[in-house]
Amino acid sequence: MELIDFIMLFFALAFFRWWWHRWSKTGGGAKNLPPGPPGWPIVGNLFQVILQRRPFMYIVRDLRLKYGPIFTMQMGQRTLIIVTSADLIHEALIQRGPQFASRPKDSPIRLIFSMGKCAINSAEYGPLWRSLRRNLVSEMISPLRVKQCSWIRKWAMEAHMRRIQREAQENGFVEVMSNCRLTICSILICLCFGAKITEERIRDIESVLKEVMLITLPKLPDFLPVLTPLFRGHVKEARKLRKKQVELIAPLIRNRKAYVDSDGKCGDPEMVSPIGAGYVDSLFGLEVPGRGKLGEEELVTLVSEIISAGTDTSATAIEWALLHLVMDQEIQERWLPVPNSPPDPTETFAFTVVMKNPLKAVIVPRSI
Ligand code: HEM
Repeated sequence: MELIDFIMLFFALAFFRWWWHRWSKTGGGAKNLPPGPPGWPIVGNLFQVILQRRPFMYIVRDLRLKYGPIFTMQMGQRTLIIVTSADLIHEALIQRGPQFASRPKDSPIRLIFSMGKCAINSAEYGPLWRSLRRNLVSEMISPLRVKQCSWIRKWAMEAHMRRIQREAQENGFVEVMSNCRLTICSILICLCFGAKITEERIRDIESVLKEVMLITLPKLPDFLPVLTPLFRGHVKEARKLRKKQVELIAPLIRNRKAYVDSDGKCGDPEMVSPIGAGYVDSLFGLEVPGRGKLGEEELVTLVSEIISAGTDTSATAIEWALLHLVMDQEIQERWLPVPNSPPDPTETFAFTVVMKNPLKAVIVPRSI
């Protein structure tokens, strides 16, 4: 190798080192972002996260120790600012709420299901955002409405107890999560449509909405849009699923509309809540400034959002509580009635919560 080759090689390596250093830096820049873990050029921290094959939350927990309560992660073309302290979260979401109220751009798949961001969780900060949130608070989660709809929870819990007693007698154990999801979903469907529908239809809705949730989870093209053409099949699959979702939910909307329009006189036996008590009733009349009335597909999106948002979260909270019961068997003793006390009809059935395998908690009935 001649001297000139050495010099060229030296400059090439020095240039590469400078380029790598420049492009692997996370944070800083013209926007003065908080510093974060150095990434790789172009893809940033994306593959470092993927290759760890751990839940994102655990990765954030480790990085927080090194970079403090606020840091930047460069995930492909998407920049994430991770905020982990209560004070900073309060500043961002409450004190400077309007500035951070809009969500990032939706992927093509999410746009199919959100009908162009016509959902509470994805609407841009503006008139639609305000109307949908105000409507949710006054029509769905106000203390008055929660109290008014207590009979729905009571009805669903009675059906739940009957179902698990039957299952326990037939199988000797009870599948916890599928029963909980079914019960929560039946409550949310009744809250949304004011209707009691068959268990089979509730199961269909629950399973389709779960598929929707899975297909809309962030995928590679959400971070590296240049890869979108490689994922065209996913978009096709998403359109098919959307069709299935509309076919399942739209008839419930139409039935409720007919009930409301006929002033409750159409005699639909499924309708159990008075007019005005269903979430969808409030959406029929909702006029969004600059957008007008909502169409049927938009209603499908909005009621699906409530059912999905409520089912998975509540079921996960129950799963978490059951895990603690499994780990602390002594707590379960407190469920047993006091010995020699008069029989209480609500306590004629007790369970021991055990873990059948790491993924499936089961509750086993015991004699009392
Ligand atoms: C234990 C139960 C629940 C937990 C832990 C929970 C938690 C959350 C969290 C963390 C978010 C924010 C999601 C995000 O920013 O991307 C959220 C949003 C939402 N939740 Fe819940 N939720 C629960 C139950 C429910 C129920 C029962 C409903 C319906 C009646 C509901 C309706 C919604 C809606 C509509 C949103 C979207 C609003 C927004 O994005 O700001 N949630 N929930």
